[in-house]
Amino acid sequence: MRELTRKAALPSDLVIHVTGARPNFPKAAPVIAALGARGVTQELVHTGQHYDDAMAKVFFRQLGLPEPDVDLGVGSGTHARQTASIMTGLEDLFVQREPSLIIVYGDVNSTVGAALVAAKLGISIAHVEAGLRSFDRSMPEEVNRVVTDQLSDLLFVTSPDAMIHLGHEGIPSERVHFVGNPMIDTLLANLDRFSAEQARSRHGLTGEYVVATLHRPSNVDDPADAAELVKAVHAVADLARTVVPLHPRGRARLEAAGLFTHDQLTVIDPLGYVEFLGLVRGAAAVVTDSGGVQEETTMLGVPCLTLRPNTERPVTITHGTNRLVTRAELGWVAGQILAAGRVEHWPVPPLWDGKAGERIADVVGAFLGARPAPGKGHG
Ligand code: UD1
Ligand code: UDP
Repeated sequence: MRELTRKAALPSDLVIHVTGARPNFPKAAPVIAALGARGVTQELVHTGQHYDDAMAKVFFRQLGLPEPDVDLGVGSGTHARQTASIMTGLEDLFVQREPSLIIVYGDVNSTVGAALVAAKLGISIAHVEAGLRSFDRSMPEEVNRVVTDQLSDLLFVTSPDAMIHLGHEGIPSERVHFVGNPMIDTLLANLDRFSAEQARSRHGLTGEYVVATLHRPSNVDDPADAAELVKAVHAVADLARTVVPLHPRGRARLEAAGLFTHDQLTVIDPLGYVEFLGLVRGAAAVVTDSGGVQEETTMLGVPCLTLRPNTERPVTITHGTNRLVTRAELGWVAGQILAAGRVEHWPVPPLWDGKAGERIADVVGAFLGARPAPGKGHG
């Protein structure tokens, strides 16, 4: 990691954050707050990839994010159509606003769309949560990660394995900064607001319960996968009350496959961040295919069963509470986990200490201070 001397950002340096989808918001919040405290001029652009109140606006309210300066309103579409809308909207904006740096988060289409536009306009790019790899190119997110990392000038990584992957892909080590996990900053900052008791009373839960979140294309897009998934989740509901705050992506297919028909299983709309993590905090186990939820359960010490053949977050297995399971084995693994009960102590990944936003802001501040003056040619 290159040591940069901290300098104040130039007053003319504009930083633009680009968010698009639900998992981006808890990652961006601590970075925006830390840069704000350093007096950096910044704007927040929301692409509108996610647009429902429960998928986007509730996070702005609950996480103290500033209102977006611009909402591109791109909405849903095929990968090409959605990414193209993101790119054309951002190109006009970046040409007009002339940012010195854009900051992108995670691995969604808004992340890669923004990085492509900035790279071709010669604007520097910082990628928060760089270097994660599932090595599964059938995941759209994996394509987005690899491309975004190749284009980025500052790569902020959440776990040591990510540094190794970036090294193998030829990214110069001086661009890579191991800073910890800003999503965990947000979790730690809001811990007092996550009330399992409120969640229990809100959802009528008396005994042990499980929470499930499911939205990966590999689980919910194909009717045959959806049918297998429903069977697996019903096997969990046979053991304990199961609450499913359901992502809109798979709702129709999972309903058609009979998800809603088990009397110990309750399907609800996606929850706000605070309500969701309150519910997770009190759960005996979580079943998920989410990336972020693997990390949050690790921090909260809640056993996590990830319904995927791989994870780009292996640190949640080696240092956390996560375990990969197939749909076929979910029922009996859940039975073992519920019988074992929650552990008292568990390791936590290195630098997941609530200070990632500060570390990122230090590096960004130094980068802006160290940039050559406009017209002197950067990068
Ligand atoms: C996207 C990300 C995925 C991330 C997930 C987080 C990509 C390629 N995928 O997947 O990495 O894990 O967000 O939740 O960027 N929809 C609504 N309301 C909304 C948003 C979406 O109803 O506010 C529905 C629409 O039917 C839409 C579908 O969900 O077609 C999928 O949305 P999209 O943003 O394309 O992908 P996600 O599955 O949400
Ligand atoms: N989340 C939420 N409400 C829900 C489900 C998830 O607030 O009903 C939060 C969760 O705590 C995490 C983020 O959404 O902070 C994860 O987003 P998601 O699972 O959609 O995306 P992924 O992490 O898989 O990309």
